[in-house]
Amino acid sequence: MPKENPIVVFKDVEKVYRGGNVAIEHINLTINKGDFVCFIGRSGSGKTTAMRMINRMLEPSGGTILYNGNDIHKTDAVKLRRRIGYVIQNIGLMPHMTIYENITLVPKLLKWPDEKRRKKAQELIKLVELPQDFLDRYPSELSGGQQQRVGVIRALAADQDLILMDEPFGALDPITRESLQELVKHLQEKLGKTVVFVTHDMDEALNLATQIVVMDSGHIIQNATPSEILQHPANDFVEDLIGEDRLMQARADVTTVSQIMLKNPVSITPGRSLTEAIRLMRKRRVDTLLVTDDDNYLKGYIDIETLNTRYRHATSVSDILNTKIFYVVDDTLLRDTVDRILKRGLKYVPVVDHAGKLRGIVTRAAIVDMVYDTIWGDSDDEGDSDSENSDRGNLSQSDLASSTKEV
Ligand SMILES: Nc1ncnc2c1ncn2[C@@H]1O[C@H](COP(=O)(O)OP(=O)(O)O)[C@@H](O)[C@H]1O
Ligand SMILES: [Mg+2]
Repeated sequence: MPKENPIVVFKDVEKVYRGGNVAIEHINLTINKGDFVCFIGRSGSGKTTAMRMINRMLEPSGGTILYNGNDIHKTDAVKLRRRIGYVIQNIGLMPHMTIYENITLVPKLLKWPDEKRRKKAQELIKLVELPQDFLDRYPSELSGGQQQRVGVIRALAADQDLILMDEPFGALDPITRESLQELVKHLQEKLGKTVVFVTHDMDEALNLATQIVVMDSGHIIQNATPSEILQHPANDFVEDLIGEDRLMQARADVTTVSQIMLKNPVSITPGRSLTEAIRLMRKRRVDTLLVTDDDNYLKGYIDIETLNTRYRHATSVSDILNTKIFYVVDDTLLRDTVDRILKRGLKYVPVVDHAGKLRGIVTRAAIVDMVYDTIWGDSDDEGDSDSENSDRGNLSQSDLASSTKEV
């Protein structure tokens, strides 16, 4: 959980609009200093309402909001707003004002002396790597992208600790949007600001937030870090908001091979006879066996075809041992193996520890369980997944032929 250093606290806050429209129902929320908090939810879920109560643009119908420990209702609203920046949708610049005048708009309202304003503008324009003489130009003399960057620094100009942003990039194309997200994030971290940011775009929230507050119908459904949200979505609603592709991606990003492998794969030692090997294959209904030495180091595999052709001339497992085998190490992220396993058509892959000892196997079935619907969908039409309910599927030599490693 986040460190406790609250700048804003919602206590049992409620907002009912005139006419009885309940926009916020008893929310409790702590926003810590230095955090980048994203309110996310569908249109009408109460994001804007919740945000606007922080600087008293709207008054709650019930409950209390604390700013730096003080009840904002007992704070002068104008003073409060001076300490809290607010950026509305589309950070447009005033066309009739110079860049300098645009940047220092709020500091001027706050009656900063000229010199302090000038210094701040110079400092900020440097932060976004624009030349100082741009300060004297008008917005129309700058490119669209440059104007957007000025819009972002304007939001930071008044040295306020807390900045509220209500879908500021909502109307921008994806590329401009991404570059501005990067800029905002960079400046927020560098300047140590606290940002509360409203969005309905999960990509944006995941990009920016240190804390994501998921809202639905005036309730907070989940309040957690982006990785917690991805790994443990609170319910179907949150899962839906995240989207299946991203969930799958997130799982593969953090799941290691050892977490989904089957333990105790069927294996045999090189000294055993081929008769014993056949008996074991029949009993476990597999057409290959992994071969390990007495200390459980993976040595290779044997398969039924080789066994069949060489049976008369060979006696022990070691005589027909195939040492070219594809395997994975147990702490490999699934993300890095899924593709290889699926695309090569491997039915299973042995899993070893860093020393090379056999620890388990990952079956195609286990992977298919995870990705079938999201990645492969209908294209995986081999229709053989039922055979893999046993410990392992059938592994043929051709499965292993391409890309193997000597053990
Ligand atoms: N001024 C208002 N008067 C009455 N109802 C409002 C007003 N503003 C917003 N609402 C209602 O409150 C709910 C939350 O709105 P809002 O906070 O704007 O949601 P969001 O920002 O998540 O889209 C919605 O049902 C909306 O229709
Ligand atoms: Mg809104």
